[in-house]
This record gives sequence, C-alpha cells and structure tokens, in this order.
Amino acid sequence: MATDRTFYVTTPIYYVNDAPHIGHGYTTVMGDILSRWHRQRGEKVWYLTGVDEHGQKVLRKADANGVSPQEWVDRLVEDEWKPMLRTIDIANDDFIRTTEERHEKGAQAFWQDLYDRGAVYKGGFSGWYSVSSEEFVGDDDVRDGEGEDEGFKISVLDGSRVEYMTEENYFFRLSDYADRLLELYEQHPEFIQPESARNEIVSFVKRGLKDLSISRSTFDWGIPVPWDSSHVLYVWIEALLNYVTAAGYGVDPERFEGLWPADIHIVGKDIARFHAVIWPAMLMAAGQPVPHRVFAHGWLLVGGQKMSKSKANGIHPNEIVETFGSDAYRYYFSRALTFGSDGSISWEDIGARYHAELANGFGNLASRVAAMIGKYHGGQLPEAGPFSQPEKALIDDIAAAVGAADAAIDRVAPQDAMNEVWRIVESLNGYLTEQAPWKVAKDDQQSERLATILNTAAEGLRVLAVVLNPVLPRACAALWESLGAEESLGALADQPLADAGRWGQLPAGTTITKVPSLFPRLELDHA
Ligand code: ME8
Ligand code: MG
Repeated sequence: MATDRTFYVTTPIYYVNDAPHIGHGYTTVMGDILSRWHRQRGEKVWYLTGVDEHGQKVLRKADANGVSPQEWVDRLVEDEWKPMLRTIDIANDDFIRTTEERHEKGAQAFWQDLYDRGAVYKGGFSGWYSVSSEEFVGDDDVRDGEGEDEGFKISVLDGSRVEYMTEENYFFRLSDYADRLLELYEQHPEFIQPESARNEIVSFVKRGLKDLSISRSTFDWGIPVPWDSSHVLYVWIEALLNYVTAAGYGVDPERFEGLWPADIHIVGKDIARFHAVIWPAMLMAAGQPVPHRVFAHGWLLVGGQKMSKSKANGIHPNEIVETFGSDAYRYYFSRALTFGSDGSISWEDIGARYHAELANGFGNLASRVAAMIGKYHGGQLPEAGPFSQPEKALIDDIAAAVGAADAAIDRVAPQDAMNEVWRIVESLNGYLTEQAPWKVAKDDQQSERLATILNTAAEGLRVLAVVLNPVLPRACAALWESLGAEESLGALADQPLADAGRWGQLPAGTTITKVPSLFPRLELDHA
C-alpha cells in the first residue's frame, strides 16, 4: 500500500566511547529490516541512525587515551561506526553525529524555545550520577557495591557505579507532564511497546516525576546552553533531539513536516524511559507531536549474561560476519530471537541455523531448481501445464504466508514474519520431495508434468527472492540474477511485496542460470 507519508524509522544514536558490538548491530539490523520491508511495499521510507558524541563517558575515554574528545570521536566514527553499517549491509538514509552543526544549532533552538516558554528554571543539584549510563540516579535507586564494586555505590537500574555530584544546573519542569504522559499511554497503548515495557513505564510515571536537570557546568564537552554559555546541555536532552534535528527541525519546515512525527523509534529496553517519558514530555513542552511508537527490544545474552563492553563479553559484528557473511548475520538475529524479549545467542546456534536453514533449507533449494531447469530444459524456464492439487495447495500456502508475514511486520514481530516466510521454504522443499521431478524426468510421457513442477518451483523462488530481500539482500540479488528476473520483471527492489504471491509472473522462456552456492557449507572449528 503506497502512501504519501514517509515511514520514518530510527535507531538510538550510540555512544562513541568505544567500538560497536553486536548489541548495536542487532538494533541497527532490525531497524534496517523494518525499513527495507516497508520500502519493498512501495512506501517512502527514511531510516536514520547515528552516534552520540558528547557527555562525560566519551570525554573520560578520550582523556584516558590522551586525545581530545573531538579527535577521539572523529577517529572512532570513521574507523568503527560507519564501517559497521557496511559490514552488516545497512541501507540507512541518513547518519547523524551530534557534533554536527545541524544538530548543535537545532538542539540550541529547541531549548531556547523551552526556556522562553518558561519550562526551564535554575536550581542547585546534589545527587547521584552514573557516567556509564549518563543518568541521574535517585537516592532510592542506589545501593552499596559488592565484590569488584566494594567501596562504590551502585545504581540498581543497571548495576553501574554512581558518583555524588553537586552542581548548579538548569532544570526542566518534567513533573508538570506526568498526567499528560499517562493520558498518552492510555489513549495510545501502542506508543510504548512491548507490553512489558509499557507496564514498567506506566508504573514509573504513576509514582510521580521529578524535574530533570538539563545542564552540566563542571566540564565543557557538550553543546553550550544558548542563554548561559557557562553550562553545556545534559547529554541525553540533546541526544534525543537528534530525531528532529536530522529531520530538519528549525531549518527546513517542509522537510520536517514530511518526516515528523517518527513512525517508530527502535531502542533497547535500557533506554525506554528516556524515550517514553523524557522525550515525549520535551516534545509536549515544545508543542510538537510525539512519535507514533517506541519499541524497546530485549538483551542479547551471551553465556546467560547481558552482553556489554564493560563485562568484556562484547562481540564485534565483524567476528560473525567474517565467518558467516552479512546475510546470515541479519537472518540469525531476526529469526532466532523474539524481538522485545531477551535472547541467548551462541556461536554453535548460529552455525547450526546457518547449515540447517540457510545452506540446506534455502540455498540448496535455489541451486537444485536452477540445476534441474539446466539439466532438463537447457536453462529455459518451461511453460507450466495444468495445475493439480499439489500446485494449488502450494500456491495458496505461499500467498497466505506472504500475507501473514506482512501483517507480522506491522506488529513489529520480525521473528513471526521470518517464520511465515520459512514456511514457504519448507513447503517448496516438501513439494519437490513429493513431486520428485528427477523421477518424473525419466518418463517421456510426463514431460508436461515435469515442466509444471519446474515452473512452479521457479515461481516459488521468485516469491522468496522478493520477501526475503529485506533480510537477505545479497542472497536475493544472486537469486534474482539466476532467475533472469531483472530483464522480465525489473529490479528486485521494485517488486511490490503485496503482489509477491501473485502467481505466474516469471515468463516461460526466461533464461535460468546456475546459482553460485548462496550459503556454502563451512568448516566450523571456532568453539
Ligand atoms: O544508550 N543487547 O547509547 P549506547 C541488545 N547514546 N541491544 C544492546 C545491547 C545488548 N546486550 N547492548 C547495547 C545510548 N544494545 C545512548 C542512546 S538515543 C537518543 C541515545 C543496544 O551506546 C540497544 O539498542 O549505550 C541499546 O539501547 C543501545 O545499544 C545503547 O547504546
Ligand atoms: Mg549504554
């Protein structure tokens, strides 16, 4: 269904204190799959990702490495964060850095406006702060550290160490917005998903909100407060603004109107509160519409623990992509995990799914069909004869699976979409096993039947190329090429998803060529 509206998707902007790990890759791939899926429907899509460069966490890391924070972020963005997008085949439309002028200007304009509206006041702050999550932590949320953290205070929110700080700050009247926020969650239950995140947010806001410190005055790695340059904006309240500054807020009203509000902010559940409480309150204060949906996904667990750099169990995306390829990476995270819940991942599981599902299930199907059309029909797609019951059942099944997968994407349930699509792979494999074209080929009387089976299988592959393109863009490009489909049907990216199940699109006579092995078998010795 093509509409004039642009479907605007975002990821969090990641801290550039360090190199990315597969947790960042996870969020970014899921946003990409969602974006590509909507594009494959024929919708206009804008997919934004980027990096969060200010704050004490980044500053301290630069200091520890003996370089200026600007040098540190420039180097990491070029050497690590931008390359990650290529490694995992992200088709983002924009990449925002919070040190860019468009962001700094936009963030200042936004807060000046809130200041002018009386939503900000000056006050003294004393309390706990976690530099690791750049978060103010209430007295009730702090406990004594144990073990390695002996002698430190720890935030119960995420186990990070907190420091006591006393500063003069500006405050945002966040407490004024509790009722309006509760009304938002009530009227738009889809605003914060999944249900578990929604419940947490609702009960948090019901306990009442405190005003929020929005500036820092003891260091200067940040955006100057526009009315008082002895302060910088607190990193979160400018970072959240990336979603609007990248969309042209304050400089290009026409573009802004076309993009804002975002359709979906994809975030990890660690930062759901910032996105579902502080962010909509800021927008309400500015008289701007709030995003349609914030989707908070769960943790990647490695050996049962949340994967993170500080626990030294962080895995770089390259490690997986070098062995399995980017398609398998994208496949694994969308198929093997339930988006919205925590999920354990392991090298063994990736390897097992790679071989069972990608190599034997999908890759082998594609090469068998092309090989048989080569062997029995000289590489020309034969015309189908009359359909019998197995074809009719298969075609219905495939159409239903495409529809169900498409509906799953609207529920932000990519794992359900992939399960539906994999029904197609399985149905096609089952169809070939039952119809045994290699046996039918031995009987000259059945040449029309053989043609029907091979044509049906090739059509099935065409459907798969279209619906899997958002997830497996490389394999699907190779498959599209093998099917000779570019010439008869046009570019793969232009095939409308809603039309994918319509049967009989590949014209008879099309040249089908052998596919290079889409997912070659691997020797895995990496334990
Ligand atoms: O919070 N499992 O940046 P950040 C799944 N700059 N996802 C994970 C993960 C894991 N183990 N670890 C990290 C920030 N992530 C702020 C955001 S937005 C305006 C500012 C992903 O570098 C997940 O998306 O700490 C999580 O929310 C994000 O990385 C945190 O990235
Ligand atoms: Mg973090």
